[in-house]
Order: sequence, then structure tokens, then C-alpha cells
Amino acid sequence: MKIALFKESRAGETRVALTPDAVKSLVAEGWAVEVERGAGVLAHFTDEAYLAVGATISEAPAGDVNLRVNPPTVAEATQLTEGTLHLSFLSPLLAPDVVKALNDRRITILSFDLLPRISRAQYMDALSSQATVSGYRAALAGATYFDRFFPLLTTAAGTIRPAKVLVMGVGVAGLQAISTAKRLGAKVRAYDVRSAAKEEAESAGAVFVKLAVTADAAGGYARELTEEERLAQQAALVSEVASADVVITTAAVPGRKSPILLTTGMVEAMAVGSIVIDMAADGGGNCELTRVGEVVEHHGVRVVGLANPPSQMGASASFMYANNVLKLLALFGSKGQLNPDWNDEVVIGVTVARDGNVNHAATADALGVVHVPIIPDAKENA
Ligand code: NAI
Repeated sequence: MKIALFKESRAGETRVALTPDAVKSLVAEGWAVEVERGAGVLAHFTDEAYLAVGATISEAPAGDVNLRVNPPTVAEATQLTEGTLHLSFLSPLLAPDVVKALNDRRITILSFDLLPRISRAQYMDALSSQATVSGYRAALAGATYFDRFFPLLTTAAGTIRPAKVLVMGVGVAGLQAISTAKRLGAKVRAYDVRSAAKEEAESAGAVFVKLAVTADAAGGYARELTEEERLAQQAALVSEVASADVVITTAAVPGRKSPILLTTGMVEAMAVGSIVIDMAADGGGNCELTRVGEVVEHHGVRVVGLANPPSQMGASASFMYANNVLKLLALFGSKGQLNPDWNDEVVIGVTVARDGNVNHAATADALGVVHVPIIPDAKENA
């Protein structure tokens, strides 16, 4: 069977879903791979590199398996061959029109966002791999925009005190931001609403800021705060934020707009020259002043709305994503043939729709169609 690798159409995107090395292992396993011309060029993977490992290059690839990083547009979705399989990040609740366009063509839709976060699935967890890149970039952006050193330096020209970095949101990205800022020598404090985050933040080298507000939800995620909790959280964080040189925010609530952790008032309380790096900018931002892809200067504080941070490191992000794709595809087929085990909880969890039936309950609700579980009573990643 054939795998089609598409060029991403999202503005500013540099990633590609398969590297030449990943294509090489798929070809060795018996898959044919057709690559859209120039698909990897922004991550420095040339068409020649794909050709050299046995792929073909095409202006308009068509496959039994269709691979992308970002969701296709509706126009792209309607060009895919009926009855095939599609895999990318999709956030189906945020893209119901794309889901509908794919499902109308009876395309089996897999969305990395829905992959169950269980130990066995860690190798396929593209949310985590891309969050690792984002956290790293966020810390580097903090160090780059800040016009003082991160580390303690004792020099003949004077002693420089280390920068104080506050990381808000200690998921995969936050932990990577903590370790990266630590490695650069900053003093790092961190805050999250999940109680488990304390130990994780401390093991990465941060001092954890403990507040009264906690919000643990199913699956190890944070739940959305109530209005009262949100105000209590903001009040408790004012002095913490005011004493930080660089604040890195990474807080997300899956499937919803990012929560506001930094109000305009809190930014105004920061010292002139301080920096806010908002890694959640694509999802609406954690700071009231954030504008995606822009640097907003307010009262001498610069608020940086990082746009699609993994695309700033297309090569590494693609390498990690492609490895996640290989591991997930191994659950859906082998030796060049699709042959999924529809009883596997990872296969079920990651599948939004199959054969024209929507099996992800929340997506079925959003589309106003009947929810058809793959197997009745199967575990589903809600
Ligand atoms: P995420 O990207 O959904 O959110 C980032 C962080 O922001 C989370 O730690 C969340 O608690 C925090 N947050 C949300 N709302 C907040 C608020 N109002 N105030 C402060 N912080 C807030 O998180 P990510 O990175 O996807 O991880 C979510 C959970 O999944 C974590 O517990 C992580 O350790 C776990 N996980 C487990 C895996 C596995 O076992 N296979 C793999 C990856 C993650």
C-alpha cells in the first residue's frame, strides 16, 4: 500500500511528517511512499534525499495512508482518495468542517491530539514531542529577548546576579522550559494547578510556587478553573510575577481556549525590561496582552506571543514527529499493509472516525451526528 506525504500549507510551517530516514524504514517494510514535491525542504530534507531512500516525488500525491502535521484544509481534505486513512494533529472539536469533509469521504481519521496518554503510547505521543520543542524554544526566546545574562557571572567587570525565571504551566513543555532555563543558569520558579506538578517541577530543578488553588482532572490534565478560582489565582500570583525577570507561560487546557494567567495589571507590576514569553499564544494566549507572532511592549515589558514554536526547529521537530508517526503506524499495519487491531485502546482512542462513522463522542456531538463506538463499551479518550 502507498503512503502519501504532503507539504504543509499552514503559513510559517517548516515541519514535515516524515524524514528521509523514516521513509527509508517504511520502504524497507514494504510500503510505497509518494512525497509531495518540496515537502521537506523547509526542514532541510531535499526531494533528492527522499528519492535516495526509495520514495517517489509527485506534484499531487495520493495514498492509502495520508500524512500531515497540521490538519488539512477543507479543500485539501476533499482531494484525498475516498476510503483511505488520514493522520495529523487535528483537534477535531476545533475543526468540525475538516472532520466533516474527511468523514463524508469515508476517510478513517486519526488525530494525534486524541492519543491516550498511557505509558505504552509514549513513543507515539506527538503532543509531547512537539511540546518538548516548544518548551525549549520558549526558554531560549526568554534568554534572547532579555537584555541581561541568565547565569550568575563573577567577572572583573562586576558580578551579575542570575535571572529570575518563572514558568507557569508545568506540563511537558513547562518542564523542558525549566530545564533549559536552569541549564542557562537562571534561578527558576514554577507554578501549575495540578498537584502532581510540584514533584515534577522540583525534579527539573525549579522551586515550586504552591497556591491554594488546585484543579486536577481526569487523565492527569488540569480542569478549567471557576471564575472565583481564577481571580484567587491571579491575586496570589501578582507578587510572584512582579519579582520575575522572565515569565514563560505554557498553560493549556485541552480543546479549550488557553486560560488567562497574566492580566494587564500583573504585567504593569513587572519591572521595566522584563519579558513575558507566551507559549500558549496559538491557543489564545495566557496573557491578556498577547498577540500571536508579535512582540507587544507594554509599560516597558515585552510580551512575546510565540507562534507555532515547533516550526522554529523544523528539523528536530520533524525528526521527533516522524518517529511518533512510525510507532503509531505500526499499530495500524505492517509489511506495507493496513491491518489495525480495532480492539486496541490506543487505536480506538486516536481514531476520530472510521468508514463514515464518528466514533469520538465529543466530535459526534459537535457535528450533530450519531456516535458510533468502534466496539461498544470500549474505552475512549474523551
Ligand atoms: P497541557 O499542554 O495540556 O498543559 C500545560 C500545563 O498547563 C499543564 O501542566 C496544566 O496543568 C497547566 N495548566 C492548565 N491550566 C492552568 C492554569 N489555569 N493555571 C496553571 N497551570 C495550568 O499539558 P501537557 O504537557 O499535555 O501534559 C498534561 C499532563 O499529561 C501532564 O500531567 C503530563 O505529565 C501528562 N502526560 C503524560 C504522559 C504519559 O504518561 N504518556 C505523556 C505526556 C504528558
